[in-house]
Amino acid sequence: MAAVRVHSSIQSSLCILSHPLYSTSRHLKTRLHFPRPLFSSPSFSSGRALFCSCRADNFKGSEREVSDSFVLTTPLYYVNAPPHMGSAYTTIAADAIARFQRLSGKKVIFITGTDEHGEKIATAAAACGSSPSEHCDVISQAYKTLWQDLDIAYDKFIRTTNPKHEAIVKEFYSRVLANGDIYRADYEGLYCINCEEYKDEKELLENNCCPMHLKPCVLRKEDNYFFALSKYQKLLEETLTQNPDFVQPSFRLNEVQSWIKSGLRDFSISRASVDWGIPVPNDNKQTIYVWFDALLGYISALSEDNEQPDLQSAVSSGWPASLHLIGKDILRFHAVYWPAMLLSAGLSLPKMVFGHGFLTKDGMKMGKSLGNTLEPNDLVQRFGSDAVRYFFLREVEFGNDGDYSEDRFINIVNAHLANTIGNLLNRTLGLLKKNCQSTLAVDSTLAAEGNAFKDTVDKLVEKAKFQYENLSLSSACEAVLEIGNAGNLYIDERAPWSLFKQGAAASEAAAKDLVIILEAMRIIAIALSPVTPRLSLRIYEQLGYTKEQFNATTWSETEWGGLKSGQVMAQPKPVFARIEIEAEVGDGGEAAKKVVKKKEKIPHTQGVAQA
Ligand code: MSP
Repeated sequence: MAAVRVHSSIQSSLCILSHPLYSTSRHLKTRLHFPRPLFSSPSFSSGRALFCSCRADNFKGSEREVSDSFVLTTPLYYVNAPPHMGSAYTTIAADAIARFQRLSGKKVIFITGTDEHGEKIATAAAACGSSPSEHCDVISQAYKTLWQDLDIAYDKFIRTTNPKHEAIVKEFYSRVLANGDIYRADYEGLYCINCEEYKDEKELLENNCCPMHLKPCVLRKEDNYFFALSKYQKLLEETLTQNPDFVQPSFRLNEVQSWIKSGLRDFSISRASVDWGIPVPNDNKQTIYVWFDALLGYISALSEDNEQPDLQSAVSSGWPASLHLIGKDILRFHAVYWPAMLLSAGLSLPKMVFGHGFLTKDGMKMGKSLGNTLEPNDLVQRFGSDAVRYFFLREVEFGNDGDYSEDRFINIVNAHLANTIGNLLNRTLGLLKKNCQSTLAVDSTLAAEGNAFKDTVDKLVEKAKFQYENLSLSSACEAVLEIGNAGNLYIDERAPWSLFKQGAAASEAAAKDLVIILEAMRIIAIALSPVTPRLSLRIYEQLGYTKEQFNATTWSETEWGGLKSGQVMAQPKPVFARIEIEAEVGDGGEAAKKVVKKKEKIPHTQGVAQA
């Protein structure tokens, strides 16, 4: 038996009959080509990947087609509970991508925010004894604070309770209504409050439990407004066929296509039983469904604070988005519902939706509802933001699931950041101080003439760039780390400490070797800065640059040749200290592990993030 029964009114059938799907699909113009890599400059400047001319005439002139802009979004996070590591994961990844795009010269608008309406939030507020709006203020602020601690440099933070957002949602709703895509009907089905979604009985576990939250869904019957999603079935099928890169990673496309093929059903976009939401225009007995409301945050975030909020001006400030970064659990909303809503309103589709995997604990999705979360504040306090950012981006292949283990965290961070990078820099600077008064003897270009090590670095930098462009963040980190490995190999083979002892020509060769390693470190600092901004700044400062110089770097400066003869390096100081584990004896005499702060004092340079 189908879990959902819709008893549409006569009005609804009239809507369906009058719907201009076929006429619009005939006019749908698509330029649907994404040459690899996904976000390289040439493919990007070729313009919008999806251009919908159907009913978009009002917007044609206002939607920007700016080849040097890059608008990316994280999901807007529910404020039922404070952020956990799973929510931080998407934002860290988005921040690394935003930083890479900025380094590459793009005008980036990085949007994040909080999703504050709906039953789930109202219930959470009541459980804390707060009003919904007080509760939202507190939790939304907790997100902002965490983003600051994690060096997340977002450009826009949208709250769905912001009046400008509400105005834009209402305008959008009215547009879709005017297009004949909203009708009223009775609805009966099984609802998961945690997903804020009606479910099909066939996708549920025993006792109608939601497979994600392991809690029983509740039977609901309501008189609601519906969005005529079914009318967009054909158009969506065509869109995805012609533009397969719209959904990434590519293995998620099949899933989306099979949802569409299995038949799209209209969904209810209002709630009669929920007060905490945006009232439906012309019917204040109902509020707008939280997803129909929240998705619009990607557009309302673009509207300028000093402007009267309206859809057209928000759209003209950066829509369509280049990239929606989301977790795989909310793919259907972003790759099916949202495009259909946009088509209905005559707006362009985002260029890409990337659904990453889950951080899991014991194989289960880490989440607020299951209560098996990892505390990001705790991780940041103990290990620092760079370690947290690096570990999750390096360890979890972006797109797949990844399990967390503290031992692995410590091993990876120590091996890569403290040893491969930190140690190499520190011992090279130590040698330079001892033998060359911390001053470079020659230009790095001259030092590397005819040296194969430079070619290795050049290739690895190209590789890292390609991987960043393809959103393969783990592989990008790997390529940069390979530069560090090659540097360690080089210095061990060349043994400049012995060469210095030999004097004369050998000493000169050793001085060149140090320049070569330090040049590689400079390149590592830039190439890893999207992932580890604080560490990169510290490396840069060790190389004798100022913070202002670091902030002004661009990706083009990863080209070999930045360090010049006569440049004076700073006093060698460790840039990343090892995380030490000490054995502790508890009251009961059993040994317990305690993670302790590093021995060395690392200057905590502030102000890397704009957030
Ligand atoms: N409010 C909606 C999104 C609306 S967007 C217009 C929502 N919020 S959420 O807080 O529940 O989830 C936000 C994001 O966090 C989702 O992309 C979700 O996949 C991600 N994660 C939540 N737990 C996660 C893990 N354990 N691992 C990785 N990401 C996970 O959905």
